[in-house]
Amino acid sequence: MTAIREIKGRRVWDSRGRPTVEVDVILENGVMGRAIAPAGASRGTREAVDRRDGGDALRGQGVQAALRSVNGAIASTLTGMDAADQRGVDQAILELDPSPLKDTLGGNATVATSLAVLHAAAADAGRPLWQHVSGTTGFSPSLPLPEIQIFGGGAHAGRRVDIQDFMIMVPGAGSFDEVMEVTSEVYFAAGDIMKSRGKLAGVADEGGWWPVFDSNEEALETLIAAIEKAGEKPGERVVVSLDIAASEFGRDGRYRLALEDRELDSSGMIDLLGGWLDSYPIASIEDPLAEDDTLGTVEFTRRFGNRVQIIGDDYLVTNADLVREAQKDGACNAVLIKVNQAGTVSEGFETFRAAQSKGWGAIVSARSGETEDVSISHLATGLGGGQLKVGSFTRSERMIKWNECLRIQDALGSAAFVGGRPLANTWWGQRNYKDTAL
Ligand code: PGA
Ligand code: ZN
Repeated sequence: MTAIREIKGRRVWDSRGRPTVEVDVILENGVMGRAIAPAGASRGTREAVDRRDGGDALRGQGVQAALRSVNGAIASTLTGMDAADQRGVDQAILELDPSPLKDTLGGNATVATSLAVLHAAAADAGRPLWQHVSGTTGFSPSLPLPEIQIFGGGAHAGRRVDIQDFMIMVPGAGSFDEVMEVTSEVYFAAGDIMKSRGKLAGVADEGGWWPVFDSNEEALETLIAAIEKAGEKPGERVVVSLDIAASEFGRDGRYRLALEDRELDSSGMIDLLGGWLDSYPIASIEDPLAEDDTLGTVEFTRRFGNRVQIIGDDYLVTNADLVREAQKDGACNAVLIKVNQAGTVSEGFETFRAAQSKGWGAIVSARSGETEDVSISHLATGLGGGQLKVGSFTRSERMIKWNECLRIQDALGSAAFVGGRPLANTWWGQRNYKDTAL
């Protein structure tokens, strides 16, 4: 056992220029772990909330109160505890703040501390974080298949289009390196197309191209054109993944597509997305219906769950109970794992286990507000969940996470990459890779 000697929170700044919480955890032997809280923009109503100072300064985004949580109650409670006892540490944090949304301490304070303890324990064991995660959870490590944003919309692009993420996945690639290469070609091909159509207008929050489109489907068509311009046949090596983030424009069974000036009910929304699934090689779709639309999500899963990955993000907020409930309801077949939605590492891992135990997909994910913290590259690898969502293919807060995977690949070997074979339950996998053994 190595006890925690000191916990120190400080204010640092995220990719949107907003303040956030960084925590250093220093052990008795001088070993240190450090982590930074990310921040979402399209948040689920049931996720852990960040503690922000409010008021006029820093547009209300200040984190002084969250830092007082870290340097006060959290530090005094965790000092002396065994850093290797992640569950015990997280339990102590939960006892300090039993509120369902962690709004007493602040989810930004709890997640940065919890992750920093994990880093300290890994460093103390002399292991990279991915290896420590794999060793302590018992999951076999594997390099994840990335989901990479080409166009950013919704809350990440001034709601210029309604749909939030237009992404690609490269499941046909034989290595993580190859995914990076193909993605680079598709990303720049998309930029060239925007330029030639007089529609190049910079990038959105996560670095994907700003979506100057006249309809949501035009973004999808342009993405297909970009895949083709990059020399790929859509649906073969490269497939499409969408995050609809429907809670951002849907409530009480009504969906307002502002760009197209129309409103759909739940079944209209299901039909619209179903039409896209028939027309485009979409392998994965996130939050197709709003977080309050259980019946719609169940119906969508009943109709399409056998041929597309259906991910709950705002719908499940990395909450193990909500995952188990959804599994009973027949809603979704995969969950996004954002540790800061849960608030602690142990709760994130419990949600991951709940997903895996029923054969669900589990995609470790960044937030739209990010930093140089690379924890998620290690979590995705160490848990061996198979997928990682980080945002686009530009800007250092994103690239640092892809680059970290390349470093891990050097240690693990390219055979540990999950690509080159089908992901369970995807129609393109069954069609294109049905003879490849899993
Ligand atoms: P957020 O969005 O980080 O802004 O909440 C990311 C996502 O919806 O996946
Ligand atoms: Zn999402």
